[in-house]
Amino acid sequence: KTRIWLDCDPGHDVSEHPNLELVGISTVHGNSSMDNVTSNALSLLTAIGKTDVPVYAGSRKPFMRPAVHAPDIHGDSGIDGTTLLPESKVAMKSGNTILAIYEAIMKTPFQTCAVVATGTLTNVALLFAAFPDVVGHIRCVSIMGGAFGGREDARGNITKWAEFNIYCDPESARSIFSNPELSGRITLVPLDLTHTVLATSDVLTALMTTSHPTTKLRKMLHDLLTFFSKTYAEVFNITAGPPLHDPLAVAATIPGNEIEWDMEEVQVEVVCHGEQIGQTIKTPRDQAHGGVRGEELGKGGAEPVTWVKVPRSVAVDS
Ligand code: BDR
Repeated sequence: KTRIWLDCDPGHDVSEHPNLELVGISTVHGNSSMDNVTSNALSLLTAIGKTDVPVYAGSRKPFMRPAVHAPDIHGDSGIDGTTLLPESKVAMKSGNTILAIYEAIMKTPFQTCAVVATGTLTNVALLFAAFPDVVGHIRCVSIMGGAFGGREDARGNITKWAEFNIYCDPESARSIFSNPELSGRITLVPLDLTHTVLATSDVLTALMTTSHPTTKLRKMLHDLLTFFSKTYAEVFNITAGPPLHDPLAVAATIPGNEIEWDMEEVQVEVVCHGEQIGQTIKTPRDQAHGGVRGEELGKGGAEPVTWVKVPRSVAVDS
């Protein structure tokens, strides 16, 4: 099983996989308010029968700016579009969220737990800053965020430069992408990739076909993805289906040959001021003179480098 701590802001692009061991969930401001995303996370866990997973409410806002939400994409509740989301059967946990994440991860065997961040990066940046020893203890961190402008329809989705998760808290993002202790263990799943993996109408139909018993859960997922399709078409004029942003960041942590990733290693800078705030800029290894020199001369006082894996494409072995 792949062991993960999920930091999230649900959100329509929810994920679940039979091979996942969810150590815990923390919620973060983003798609909707903290109260909404936390109640959505609790209800979703009830819907998939995983009521034993602890849920902690994290940061309500970034520490340097006000919170931004996305009701135009996810509705006022953060997960509009279905009447089938159950009332939560579990309560959220109390206590200090960042400390709880730290303690839970440190209980897992060395380098076996991945941190998956599918919302803004405030909690994860706080975790790494407050408890630097957790950075060495985790297996990797997989983040949904960023846009590198490789596709015309994926330059940015909150401004023409910036992807939403990074835009909402660029300073936290920068602190992660510039942490050399994480070098080689960060995966960043940007819009350039997620816009190639869509919940098309065929996917929606397959969810409801008679060859599968149509359970309430399938119907609920169908409702949610249908709502997400509509907002994507209205707001972005993308009519082929909504991107499966967040599940891809989870999938990137699952080892094995079922999914084939073509990754490049890059350095990532985050714009933290001005009109282009939240923009992510990548420098590939072969162009990163400073980086290569830094790595070679590491001990000679050169800047340490943080290499980030960015998938260029993904294919599923069917
Ligand atoms: C990101 O923002 C939200 O709409 C999605 O959940 C995803 O995490 C895409 O920019």
